[in-house]
Amino acid sequence: MASTQITEQKKEEIRDTADIVDVISDYVKLKKSGSQFTGLCPFHNEKTPSFYVTPRLGIYKCFGCGEGGDVFNFIMKTEGVGFVEAMRTLAERYNIELPQQQDESFDERTQLTEGIYHALRFAGVYYFQQLTGEDDAAEARNYLQKRGLNAQTIKKWGLGFAGDAFDSFYKHAIESGINETYLSEAGLIKYSERNQKPYDTFRGRLMFPIFTPSSKVIGFGGRILGDRKGPKYLNSPQTKVYNKSEVIYGIHMARNEIRKADQAILVEGYMDVLSLWQHGIKNVIATSGTSVTQEQMRRIRNYSKNLLMVYDADSAGQSAMLRGLDVALQEDLFVRLMHLPDGEDPDSFVQQFGAESFHEYSAKEAKDFVSFQVDQAERMNEWEDPLRRRELVTGMLSSMAKIGDEGMLDTMVRHLRKLSGIGEQALRGELSKLRNEVIEQNRRARDREMRQRNIPDESEQPQSFSVPSEENIRRNKQTAVRKPSYKRPGAEKELIRLMIREGEEMIYFVGYYISAKHFEDEELRMFFEDITRRYEKEKDISIEIYTAKDPPFPELVSEVFMQQHTVSERKNIKGTEGPMRHSDPYAAARGAMKVLYMNFLENQRETINHELSTADETRRAQLYEQLTENRQMRLKAERVSSEVLFPLPEELDEDAAS
Ligand code: UTP
Ligand code: MN
Repeated sequence: MASTQITEQKKEEIRDTADIVDVISDYVKLKKSGSQFTGLCPFHNEKTPSFYVTPRLGIYKCFGCGEGGDVFNFIMKTEGVGFVEAMRTLAERYNIELPQQQDESFDERTQLTEGIYHALRFAGVYYFQQLTGEDDAAEARNYLQKRGLNAQTIKKWGLGFAGDAFDSFYKHAIESGINETYLSEAGLIKYSERNQKPYDTFRGRLMFPIFTPSSKVIGFGGRILGDRKGPKYLNSPQTKVYNKSEVIYGIHMARNEIRKADQAILVEGYMDVLSLWQHGIKNVIATSGTSVTQEQMRRIRNYSKNLLMVYDADSAGQSAMLRGLDVALQEDLFVRLMHLPDGEDPDSFVQQFGAESFHEYSAKEAKDFVSFQVDQAERMNEWEDPLRRRELVTGMLSSMAKIGDEGMLDTMVRHLRKLSGIGEQALRGELSKLRNEVIEQNRRARDREMRQRNIPDESEQPQSFSVPSEENIRRNKQTAVRKPSYKRPGAEKELIRLMIREGEEMIYFVGYYISAKHFEDEELRMFFEDITRRYEKEKDISIEIYTAKDPPFPELVSEVFMQQHTVSERKNIKGTEGPMRHSDPYAAARGAMKVLYMNFLENQRETINHELSTADETRRAQLYEQLTENRQMRLKAERVSSEVLFPLPEELDEDAAS
C-alpha cells in the first residue's frame, strides 16, 4: 500500500516536472501553433502533421492514427517499456530520485524488456570501467589515444573495453545478481554449441554503446583490437530492444544539435561520429552496421529535413551513399552529398585539417545529388562519353522517381536538363515510366505488408494454424490504429462472412464458442449480435437482408464480403462457381475463432496488468489468480490444434454422420 502511494506521489512529481514538449521533442520536430505544438506523428508514417501536443493539459494526440496520452504513455510507446521503466527514464532525466524498491509491473513482456535494459546498462558501466581501470585495457587506451579521442569524448560516449577472457563479463554479471535470461536476451552472452556453456558475445574489443534518443543503452558495437581474428566490427544481435534497422548511432547526442543546425550529417562509421563530435561538429550520426533504411530516415526527418551524407571516399562508400540517397529521397529529405578528398573519411579529414576546414570544405563541396553525380562523372572523365552519360542520367532519374514532393521533383528535373543537355520532354517521359514502376513496387510492398499483418492465417489444415505471436498481436493492434482509414480485424469479418454465407449450422457452431464480448470491433460485434438474434428467432439471414437494412449494415455487409481474399480462399476461387468459397468452412471458422480467442485473452491480460499497477493488496491477490488462469488459457490455446480447441458440437456431429 505504502509503495503504491509513493508511486502515485512520484508519478505526479514527475508529471509536474517533465515538460511534455521537451520530452516529445526528442522524437518529433515540434512547431508552436497557438497554445499547442504540432509535428509529424512518430507512430505512423505521415507527411503532413496531424500530431498535436497540448502542454497545458500535458497530453498529445494524433488525429491521423488516433494515438494519444500523457508523457508516460509517450515514453512507454516510443521506447516499448512499461510504466515503471518509463517513470525511471523520466526521473533520471529530470533528476528526480526514486526509491530503490519500485512497485514492479508484472506484465511478463514489460518485465523482460526492463530486465534487458537493466542488463545493458550494467554492461555499459562494466565495459567503461574495464577501459578506464584495468591493466589489460592499456592496449585499448593506447589505441584510442592513437585515434585521437580524448578522455572527455570517451566518457561522454561511454566507450568501453571487453577483455579477451571467455566469460569474465558473464561471471561478473551473475555475481552481481543479473538474471542470465536478461543477459542472453540482451545479446550480451551466447551459448557454446559444443557444451552449452555461456560466454561473452564481445571479447577483445573496443566497445561503443548504442543509445536511444533518451540515452538508454540498447546495444553495442565492438571494434576488434590489434591483430585478433574476427569481423572488424561486431554489433549486438537483434533483440527486443535493439532493432538494427531503426537504430541511429549518436542520435542521443545529436538530436538537439540537428534541430539547432537544421541539418543532420550522416557518416558511415562510429569513429567518424566520434571524431566530428570531438571537433565540435555535433549534428552527426551514423547507421550501425547496416545500409540506410526508411525507418532511420523517417526518424531523422523528425529533427530536420536537411541531410548531408558524407561517406568514405572509396568506391564502397560512394555506392553505399547513392543507395542511401534513394532511401532518403523517398522519405522526402533534402539531401546533399559530399565527396571527400580521395582516401579520406570524415574521421581522418577532421583529425588532419580540423573543423574549420570541414565547414569550409562542405560549404563548397556539399551538393545536390545531380550536381554531385555530374561532378563525379566529370572527375572520372565519364561525363563526355555519351553512353556513360545516358546511363548516369537514367540512374539519376530513378533516384528522382522516389521523390514525393512535386515542387522538389520539378526543380531537380530542370536542374538535370541544364546539366545534361537532354530535353525536358525526354527526361519527363523516362521519369514517368520510372515513377510508375516505383508506385507499383510500393503498392506491392504495401499489399504484402497488409497480408502479413491483417489477414488471419486460416489454412485448411487447422493443426498448422499459426497462433499469432505476441509480436503479431501487438503489430495488429498498431495497424488497427495506424491506418487512417481504419481496417477492421480480418478474423472478425471472416466469422461474420462465414455465418451469413454458410447459414444455420455455421451460426450454431460459431455461437457455441464465440460471444459478442470476443469481438473487438464495435460494429462487427453488433453485427454478430444481430445475426444470432435473428437466428434465435428463426428469421432469414442473407446478404440481401442486410444490404436492405439501415446503416451501418449495408456498408458493413459489403465490407465483410468484399474484403481482400485470404490465401486459401484465393486458391479456391478458381474452379468453383461462387466467389470466395472455402473448401472447409469449419477449418476457416476455427482459424478465425482462434484469432479472436487469442486477442481476447491478450486484451484481458492487459486489463489485469493495468489494474495491477493501482490495485491494493487484497485486489492484487485476486488479480494474480486471474493472471495465472489467463496464462493457462493462453498456453492451452497456443498448444492444441484448433480442431481440439473447437470440436464440432455433438448436435452438428450427428448431422454430419447421418
Ligand atoms: P569502417 O570500416 O569504415 O569503420 O566501417 P570505421 O568506423 O571507419 O572504423 P575505423 O576508422 O576503420 O576504425 C564503417 C561502419 O560500418 C560498420 C560499422 O558500423 C562501422 O563503423 N561495420 C564495418 C560493421 O558493422 N562491421 C564490419 O565488419 C565493418
Ligand atoms: Mn571508415
